[in-house]
Amino acid sequence: MTDTRTQDTPGGAPGHAARAAALDLLTAALSRRAGMDEGLAHPALKALSPRDRAFARALVMATLRRLGPIDAALQARLQKPPPERVVNVLRLGAAQLFVLQTPAHAAVGATVDLAAADKATRPFKNLVNAVLRGLTREPPDLADPELLAPTWLYARWRAAYGEAEARAIAAQIAEEPAADLSLKAPDDAAALAPALEAEALPGGTLRSALKGEVSAWPGFQEGRWWVQDASAAVPARLLGLTEGQTALDLCAAPGGKTLQLAAMGARTTAVDKSASRLQRLSENLARTGLSAEAVAADGAQWNDRRRFDAVLLDAPCSATGTFRRHPDVLWAAKPQDIASLAAVQSRLLDAAGRRVKPGGVLVYCVCSLEPEEGQPQVDAFLARTPEFALEPVGPGEGGAPEASLTPEGTLRILPHHRPGGTDGFFIARLRRKSD
Ligand SMILES: C[S@@+](CC[C@H](N)C(=O)[O-])C[C@H]1O[C@@H](n2cnc3c(N)ncnc32)[C@H](O)[C@@H]1O
Repeated sequence: MTDTRTQDTPGGAPGHAARAAALDLLTAALSRRAGMDEGLAHPALKALSPRDRAFARALVMATLRRLGPIDAALQARLQKPPPERVVNVLRLGAAQLFVLQTPAHAAVGATVDLAAADKATRPFKNLVNAVLRGLTREPPDLADPELLAPTWLYARWRAAYGEAEARAIAAQIAEEPAADLSLKAPDDAAALAPALEAEALPGGTLRSALKGEVSAWPGFQEGRWWVQDASAAVPARLLGLTEGQTALDLCAAPGGKTLQLAAMGARTTAVDKSASRLQRLSENLARTGLSAEAVAADGAQWNDRRRFDAVLLDAPCSATGTFRRHPDVLWAAKPQDIASLAAVQSRLLDAAGRRVKPGGVLVYCVCSLEPEEGQPQVDAFLARTPEFALEPVGPGEGGAPEASLTPEGTLRILPHHRPGGTDGFFIARLRRKSD
């Protein structure tokens, strides 16, 4: 059971401030893309005690991981939908009851207090009380995979991958992921793994069982590793870089893949259009003692004539494959985003192709499960850029799960392709013909 005590109410339920912060955070997460990240960086959240802050985040994550089944249970009890903020109060109450397993009297009482504390939700406090008490009498089933994802996304996954795969993908939404770490020096694994309570995955990623603040874990301050999902570590490995070659990371921030390229000994240039995200990349380089040239520019219009031995395009995408760590992406995504992102990816692919030396390699990847952002992008690029050819990925290459290898020789990593889960990715390797 999750420990819900906080410093300001020792031994008891978390403070009101933590629940109020959770309400604001959930509202931000559901209202817009990246709302969760913005909410986590908000001064009101940062002003909380560390335990209240951790509780607020854990409560929102628990809610988002079961949002579909929670909403289905609430809808069955609400004749007329109340205002969205009241629904969010109810969602948090249901998550405390059925995910965090907070005792019913404490969860219902604190949630009614939360409703009563705000003039917009106060008129609904009796409704909140009645709905939550009703749920405690007839607890909902929060495990149905078909309900775990938004209906439109589940339908897309079923159309793309079939019913059984769609269910297996969606089941991962409820699971809390372990932390995956990439090592600066691969031969550091044997020394680090015991201290990090980690198992080594194919390709060299360490999967740690530790919890809590990663900056306190062994080796972090010395820059011996960085957090990077096992799937996210595959694309850079497929470039086959050798010491001293030149590499371009065209959408680089916050820099997980840039760090890999630099750690492989490549002379690395990292481009990103977001200066604030590039700042995080620079901090990551400084901590790990690795070096790369960081450039703030739009990758599609970057005014630079150099060509590189290897180019990595980790394109902006719907990010639906990252729902294990960011369940908010599923609920903030909109169907129309996918077509507009596909247009951006296509422009960036053309720009990335122009940067590859004759005989050089280009890896395209997206952390998306949506087909339009994957294979069709590559097919269309190859059709309009005959100087490139697909270079098929071999079985297990780069540490990719075998099940992810497509008949075309690209990788379609689904979140259930690794025991314990992994981020969803599409990855393709292309080679420019020699002049
Ligand atoms: C998927 S994230 C990259 C993650 C990064 N490769 C890593 O491994 O840490 C996509 C990045 O593309 C950047 N981006 C979006 N549009 C861009 C553009 N037109 N040119 C360059 N960067 C862009 C975003 O700022 C974001 O940092």
